[in-house]
Amino acid sequence: MSRKPIIAGNWKMHNNCAQTIELIEGLKQELKDIDKNLLPEVVIAPVFTSLYVADEELKKCGCNKISLAAQNCYYEPKGAFTGEIAIDMLKDFNLKYIIIGHSERRQYFNETDEMINKKAKAILENGILPIVCCGETLEQRERGITDSHIQSQITKAFDGISAEDTAKSVIAYEPIWAIGTGKTCDSIEANRVIKMIRETIKSLKGDMAANSIRILYGGSVKPETIDEQMAQSDIDGALVGGASLKADSFAKIVKGAMAKAGV
Ligand code: PGA
Repeated sequence: MSRKPIIAGNWKMHNNCAQTIELIEGLKQELKDIDKNLLPEVVIAPVFTSLYVADEELKKCGCNKISLAAQNCYYEPKGAFTGEIAIDMLKDFNLKYIIIGHSERRQYFNETDEMINKKAKAILENGILPIVCCGETLEQRERGITDSHIQSQITKAFDGISAEDTAKSVIAYEPIWAIGTGKTCDSIEANRVIKMIRETIKSLKGDMAANSIRILYGGSVKPETIDEQMAQSDIDGALVGGASLKADSFAKIVKGAMAKAGV
């Protein structure tokens, strides 16, 4: 079965409003001559404070080749949660996706599997799609518990979510030791883990969800690595950090996914 690939840029804590506009203008320029149907789904996740200008910039000239994502959200609809942002508020910016459970949020902001599950459910109830991140530390990999750790993360993240909603969701497998280090995970190994994640989804939610859900690889994805990654059977795209901050390198990664995109 064919799954439309996704190339998503996680801008992390970079780019104020002016820099956001500049980067989107650059990206639009890079992609302007390519038919949308030949592209993968292209997604960018700016900081919250740049979402408004990003949405405006994308609406200008009717650019429908790039979708917006947020990097996080809170699961309660409103209330006394200083500093948090509700999903309904994020809907003002025409988001298609919200990234949840990124390892940086788990590590620095104590985000737990239980919170990620609550966020995933709330995102889907609001008609947006979660990009659920998972992945092992170097220590877990060396101890040989990569697969069991990721199975546990995925089982908890999708607890109580229907097969239909799971099918629409996205998972990003991001080995923590590969994030921002320049050490990309070997593509065959990344594909093996991603297949294992698909098997986990199959045992939890059945064939339809397992065959439909898109599972991305993330961790030092670069223009030089994308061809080999996209050539793997189960890698449905990439979540890109550092290399998404320059229009030309991100566009090269987007173009690298085109071979699988005309589906
Ligand atoms: P990186 O980040 O591409 O800079 O390794 C990926 C991510 O954290 O999503």
